[in-house]
Amino acid sequence: MVKILGISGSLRRGSFNAGLLRAAVELAAPGAQIETGTIEGIPLYNNDEETASGVPPAVARLKERVLANQALLLVTPEYNNSIPGVFKNAIDWLSRPPADIPRILAGRPVALIGASPGRFGTINSQTAWLTVLRALRMRPWFGGNLYVSGAASLFDAAGKLTDQPTRERLAEFLQGFAKSVAGS
Ligand code: FNR
Repeated sequence: MVKILGISGSLRRGSFNAGLLRAAVELAAPGAQIETGTIEGIPLYNNDEETASGVPPAVARLKERVLANQALLLVTPEYNNSIPGVFKNAIDWLSRPPADIPRILAGRPVALIGASPGRFGTINSQTAWLTVLRALRMRPWFGGNLYVSGAASLFDAAGKLTDQPTRERLAEFLQGFAKSVAGS
């Protein structure tokens, strides 16, 4: 069983990206399982706090979930053509302390997807993530891509991804990623 941890980079209750992650959990490829990790409760990074108390509990919990899985699926919103601060902040915390990077992040397969109500479906944000993933020596998967644009018309009132073509593209993306993780 290929085990993937999916993390949505939005704290918004009606988040399209959280909805996209829920759809990914549903549509995980046969032989793969997607667990949901959360950035909720992660404080703003403060080196003084880290020096005094180490990583906060919400970060420690997320690190544990990363370790319990083989790969990461980052479901990213886009703010001002780039990575939302709350999501970057969470990944910055995950990279602490640096001595833990080889265990938690380096060498780990990672895939990016994202949804936005705009026309470009988070392409800028996903591209901006690549610099971060390189710094962390992760292994981004480039075998497919999923930029979900016009998100407002693809989800129902309960936040379920109902657009069939998008569900199919998501399923195909997940199949390719899971296959790549299985072979790695
Ligand atoms: C946005 N949004 C946005 N969308 C986009 O496609 N490109 C962008 O550059 C931006 N910029 C931006 C800046 C800020 C500060 C906010 C708050 C929003 C819109 C964004 O895609 C939209 O709010 C999504 O709904 C956010 O994702 P979730 O919360 O639905 O997952």
